[in-house]
Amino acid sequence: MSALKGNQAVPLFLPHFNLQKYNTLAVPALARHFVSVKNDNELREALVFARAENLSLLLLGGGSNIVLRDDFPGLVIHIKSHGREVVAENDEFVWLKVAAGENWHQLVEYSLDNALYGLENLSLIPGSVGAAPIQNIGAYGVELKDLIEELSALNIRSGLSVTFTNESCQFGYRDSIFKQALKDQYVITSVTLRLRKHPQLNLVYPALRAAFTDVPDTDITPQQVSAAVIGIRRAKLPDPAIIPNVGSFFKNPVIDQARFEALKALNPAIVSYPAAANQVKLAAGWLIDQAGWRGKEVGGAAVHSQQALVLTNPFKLPGLVVLELAASIKQSVYEQFGITLEMEPRIYP
Ligand code: EPU
Repeated sequence: MSALKGNQAVPLFLPHFNLQKYNTLAVPALARHFVSVKNDNELREALVFARAENLSLLLLGGGSNIVLRDDFPGLVIHIKSHGREVVAENDEFVWLKVAAGENWHQLVEYSLDNALYGLENLSLIPGSVGAAPIQNIGAYGVELKDLIEELSALNIRSGLSVTFTNESCQFGYRDSIFKQALKDQYVITSVTLRLRKHPQLNLVYPALRAAFTDVPDTDITPQQVSAAVIGIRRAKLPDPAIIPNVGSFFKNPVIDQARFEALKALNPAIVSYPAAANQVKLAAGWLIDQAGWRGKEVGGAAVHSQQALVLTNPFKLPGLVVLELAASIKQSVYEQFGITLEMEPRIYP
């Protein structure tokens, strides 16, 4: 959305804008101002407007990892930039630079159609390319940090563009520097991925491996891995276009080994994965399920019946309803297991 000023397009600032179609939880909250930006110049104009009007910012990609607790009293900047470009290649790899506004799953499909591999396990993750590094999206044994070479980001205060190498993003499990030391300081404008010309499949995730029991590894293609991941996701995770949700509502908690041994003595069936040295990652979905929440509905918000880690908002109610359910779940998991769950999506305002 833009208007002409002289010969230059300027982005259009829309007041009192309903964000319901712009967040996958379908919460009907209003933004005081809303603007869609297609490139760095429009983004800079939006930042100047926010500064002049003293508005807080919400950077919006696919809206698949936010919960709107209430109306947003500032400026929502919807990143709508497009483009994919091969910036380098050698015998093994292609470096693909992708604009932040591109849809993640469409990028995965594009890569497979162009014989570029590595993204197959990350098929069907909702959201935009620019949002993906913030929480280091991951699924079925692969995380974005395994594939990202560098990214470009605009400094919100100065408007200057900066390159972050993979290492400087300080990626962790559902974590990066953009959620920590540099929170709210940069807008990611493009991501450069290092993709393979020859497939190197990752089938370590048990449910994914199980999809290929009778097939020799050498016969499996990345396209088949993508199809298997899509099948697993569709079986467990609700399609946000049909049942509003933001994927996992909590992170899988990481605890130390000694604490885990004590928990396991009391709960022999507890689901866990090895994490960093001396640490264990627990399946939050299992904890929530064991606490009796799977399939429950409270005040109109619900716990998905196929995966207790996913909360849904079938009646498109205010975000507070979902947050109240989340708080009750958190409390009961703490009472039963002594584990404090941490919310995965970001809450605004
Ligand atoms: N489980 C239950 N009951 C449930 C849900 C899960 O017992 O209601 C058990 C499962 O049987 C399994 C274990 O918990 O043994 C883990 O479940 P699952 O394989 O479904 O994965 P997850 O740990 O719940 C994580 C990610 C997902 C990602 C999958 C696959 C987080 C917070 N979530 O879920 O990511 O797709 O692994 O890699 O790390 C997302 O971030 O939005 C997301 C969907």
